[in-house]
Amino acid sequence: MGKLDNLLNNNKRWAERVRHARPDFFLELSLQQKPEILWIGCSDSRVPANEIVDKLPGEIFVHRNIANVVVHTDLNCLSVIQYAVEVLRVKHIVVCGHYACGGVKAALEAREHGLIDNWLRHIRDVYRFHREELDALGNMEARYDRLCELNIIEQVSNVCHTTIVQNAWAAGQELCVHGWVYRIEDGILRDLQVSASGKDDISDIHRLR
Ligand code: CO
Repeated sequence: MGKLDNLLNNNKRWAERVRHARPDFFLELSLQQKPEILWIGCSDSRVPANEIVDKLPGEIFVHRNIANVVVHTDLNCLSVIQYAVEVLRVKHIVVCGHYACGGVKAALEAREHGLIDNWLRHIRDVYRFHREELDALGNMEARYDRLCELNIIEQVSNVCHTTIVQNAWAAGQELCVHGWVYRIEDGILRDLQVSASGKDDISDIHRLR
């Protein structure tokens, strides 16, 4: 335990600092959470949700996994989306991936990585859907960057295709799904301009009546 004492000490100092700046901050948070954003991001330690958009505790509901994948049978991710949409009634869902994502890179490699290959299969599928575009890119670096973007775009679609999001839209709930990409080298987020805010923004194959 000794080695983690610094974290516990950091925490005490942080809580003290926050209390000093806003005496009622923790009391207010203890009464309710009212985040307007659900963040679905990569587990990568260099892409922490709240910090990179400069938000305090209570402002973002977060789900993170390797390579920010939204799988339509993943009860963990689906439960987070359901709670965020139906109970917290968030107004935005942001799927945030990043360039140089280790999960995406591993999915491009032919070698075996063990159990995780079953998770990365979903990214390999994204590669298969866009193989022509990706293979046409000359160098591996460009291919890798583009697959990071395409993976985010695919996961935005997966969020939109859930019954949860489609039911919210059908009920007239205000809800917009976005795809953002983060560059670790400069700390800058970019909007991939694939936002969807209603059933007209998704393919008819997945549109439920
Ligand atoms: Co990553």
